[in-house]
Amino acid sequence: MTRRPLIVANWKMHHTRTAAEDWCSKWHELREDEPWPERIEIGVAPAFTALKTLRARGRSLTLALVGQNCHQEPFGPFTGEVSAGMLEDAGCAMVIVGHIERRQHYGETDRLIAQKVKAVREAGMVPIVCVGESENQRESGRTEPIIESQLRHALSLVSLARGAEIVVAYEPVWAIGTGRVAQPEQAEAAQAFLRGILASITNRDVAGDARILYGGSVNPDNASVLAEQPHVDGFLVGGASLDAGTFHRIVKAFAPLVGD
Ligand code: 13P
Repeated sequence: MTRRPLIVANWKMHHTRTAAEDWCSKWHELREDEPWPERIEIGVAPAFTALKTLRARGRSLTLALVGQNCHQEPFGPFTGEVSAGMLEDAGCAMVIVGHIERRQHYGETDRLIAQKVKAVREAGMVPIVCVGESENQRESGRTEPIIESQLRHALSLVSLARGAEIVVAYEPVWAIGTGRVAQPEQAEAAQAFLRGILASITNRDVAGDARILYGGSVNPDNASVLAEQPHVDGFLVGGASLDAGTFHRIVKAFAPLVGD
């Protein structure tokens, strides 16, 4: 495959610092036993409290640090919030923006998501922009207009010169945490469509280089067939990333697809 695969563990609100330490120790052992091609990029998005732990351990493990969320302003009286600049300062290279759990539980709108994408870019990091349709929207044949609208809004305040400046994650709402993974052809169709939209927002070169991840009930059993899809450039993994051994098996799905 031409694009470098990216697999990101989204721990959501799980794992204390001790659990993060344990995860890293197990990860280290697994990598020693069974290394995989350097071309596969791995990211971990821990809770804010475990960022420092991951930073300390992550460098030697070549794990990219990923923020789960940020505020749209650079600083100010926003109790309980963390800015993009603070995440960059904590060592993050990427930040997840527009996750459905933020849209659903915290009322994040397309407008706010666009502001956060801008804040992440201005802080010198790469946003992982999440889009995805609900079950109702899919059943009523509205998947494409919904994910197109989400992507267009999310990128409306930035201009992208290179594919490396953005990651898109297709996460169908009905597949998140449900065990109902998208069929490989459903993921492929949606992600090929998203690449076309990205090309129309930017250009063909940017869209051709940008990574588009799939997220939603990825596990070691379904990872290989999903990874084989030409427009699936990696995964955003929730539940199955909490155990280092399970996550390692998911990562290995990409090993046969890249050169050494
Ligand atoms: P699950 O892998 O638990 O379905 O979660 C997916 C997700 O939301 C990743 O961001």
